[in-house]
Amino acid sequence: MTNNTKKVETIWYGHSTVKIVGSKTILIDPFFDVMSEEHVKEALEGVDFVAVTHGHADHLGQAFDACKKTNAVIVCIAEIADEATKLELDVEPMNIGGRIQRDGVGFNMVFATHSAGNMGSPAGFVIEIDGKKIYHAGDTGLTLEMKLIGEMYRPDLSFLPIGDRYTMGIAHAVKALEFVGSKKVVPIHYNTFPAIEADPNEFKKLVGDKAEVTILEKGGSLTL
Ligand code: NI
Ligand code: MN
Repeated sequence: MTNNTKKVETIWYGHSTVKIVGSKTILIDPFFDVMSEEHVKEALEGVDFVAVTHGHADHLGQAFDACKKTNAVIVCIAEIADEATKLELDVEPMNIGGRIQRDGVGFNMVFATHSAGNMGSPAGFVIEIDGKKIYHAGDTGLTLEMKLIGEMYRPDLSFLPIGDRYTMGIAHAVKALEFVGSKKVVPIHYNTFPAIEADPNEFKKLVGDKAEVTILEKGGSLTL
């Protein structure tokens, strides 16, 4: 519990790329291939941490480059951290179930059910900043573990994939939100490519009055 009243801004740049701006700035899964030059520039501004959910190209993306450019600390699973260490980046390696704290920001690495090539396991994050808790699910299918994520962390806001095929689709994401129990949610990982086409308004409709669904335009933001 906290009485911290500082505002935290979250910005979505498309796919799974999310920037969290509070007393520190965190960039999650920077996938610049699908972002405009302007958004890439904006996304890189003032970044203190780059958090990577898993080693797939659409999530690890330009994380290493972003850290080189900004001197940001990379927060990621041990196997990705090994690669980052070879590049002499400032690394905070961790693994699922663990929590680290640095410069007042808490990073909890949580379970995701997915694959990750030869780069360790897929994961999600619950990030604690300025008294707020933000869950970024990464790529995942629906899993009962989300009940535990809800119970243990009680996130204020969730970023959940809805694009189907590689992750949860809309119906499963609705159940995931029920498990996690956050009152605010932003759908991600849809409409980047034809293979993951989904209608976020359908997600919003199915969630109904159980939570506040914010459908962001690329570059749009939600403030907590
Ligand atoms: Ni993936
Ligand atoms: Mn993905």
